Amino acid sequence: MKIIKLTTLVKKILRSHGLNNKDATISANALINAELVGAPSHGLSRLKMYCDRIKHKLINPRPKIKIKKISPSISHIDANNSIGFVAADLAIKTAIKNAKKTGIGLVAVKNSGHYGLSGYYAEKAVKKNLMVMVFTNAPPAVAPHGALKSLFGTNPICFGTPTGSKIPFILDTSISMINRGKIRVAAREGKKIPKGVALDKFGKPTTDPKKALEGVQLPIAGFRGSGLAWMVDILSGVFTGGNHGGKVKDPFTDFSGPQNIGHLFFVMKPNLFVGNNYNKRIKENIKIIKKLPRIKGVKEILYPGQNKYDKYKKNLKKEIIIKKNIMEDLKKLNNF
Ligand SMILES: NC(=O)c1ccc[n+]([C@@H]2O[C@H](COP(=O)([O-])OP(=O)(O)OC[C@H]3O[C@@H](n4cnc5c(N)ncnc54)[C@H](O)[C@@H]3O)[C@@H](O)[C@H]2O)c1
Repeated sequence: MKIIKLTTLVKKILRSHGLNNKDATISANALINAELVGAPSHGLSRLKMYCDRIKHKLINPRPKIKIKKISPSISHIDANNSIGFVAADLAIKTAIKNAKKTGIGLVAVKNSGHYGLSGYYAEKAVKKNLMVMVFTNAPPAVAPHGALKSLFGTNPICFGTPTGSKIPFILDTSISMINRGKIRVAAREGKKIPKGVALDKFGKPTTDPKKALEGVQLPIAGFRGSGLAWMVDILSGVFTGGNHGGKVKDPFTDFSGPQNIGHLFFVMKPNLFVGNNYNKRIKENIKIIKKLPRIKGVKEILYPGQNKYDKYKKNLKKEIIIKKNIMEDLKKLNNF
């Protein structure tokens, strides 16, 4: 389907579920962007879930979001159970505004929901020539090192910086071997997941996505990844006032209450310490790394974000291919 037509349809669906035009546009754009950067697990496949949570009154389609200004640099947002996209959009805009004024913008969000891709928000800061770090916690999926029970989310870590070229550096990575959305998609499509990414509920390695969803996902790099997941839970949950310690509810399966996810947005002016030399320095840094001798078969050493930028540019020229089951969801939601 053409991008414009699909965006209009998603907006219409969200409006029919109670969102105002502005919030429906913010949310539709974020969902379509996920499709365009090649992350369909965070795109249209989640629309039904958001709508289901609105129907169960667990996402508030007309939230009264409060922003508390703590200092010219620091703000605290209570998202009032808004759809995560809306809270995150406001938070990154506030962090950008604070950073432009003072050099640093730190914004914490509580009472939010799943907001999709961290990199989407990081990009907004980088486009304004700012550096950024974004953290969010997520429902239990990953076992802390040594535990046989999931507690940490796939808690993505995201860092972005301008590069002096049009392609931003955006490292945006889950702390799990693969992200949970990919396991859900494999389960729906009856496909296997790779070896070494999950254990079943008895602690045995599995390639069956359904067993993996009942069991635990493994963190990247053993105890180091477990430590990073814990750090994200502290920064986005303990620090912000959001849920933490395994209390974030699974948006697909747990309708016992709102998610109360926490997010943290930290935006910085890149010229704080080296003045206008930053551009020259970052270009030099990337050039040194890109010039390194390469392993056989590697055409180019990419920096994080380059692959997604390329996909986005290519996909922008094409129609979005919608899988049959997602198309059925869209049709049903459109008749809501
Ligand atoms: N909201 C949530 O609760 C939640 C939870 C988990 C993940 N997510 C999102 O899911 C998305 C996908 O996460 P993921 O871990 O599957 O990402 P991924 O494995 O696709 O990519 C991770 C990072 O590696 C970079 N990369 C990929 N190939 C590369 C290469 N050849 N050379 C250099 N860098 C390369 C990417 O640009 C990216 O920055 C992220 O956007 C994340 O924010 C969201």
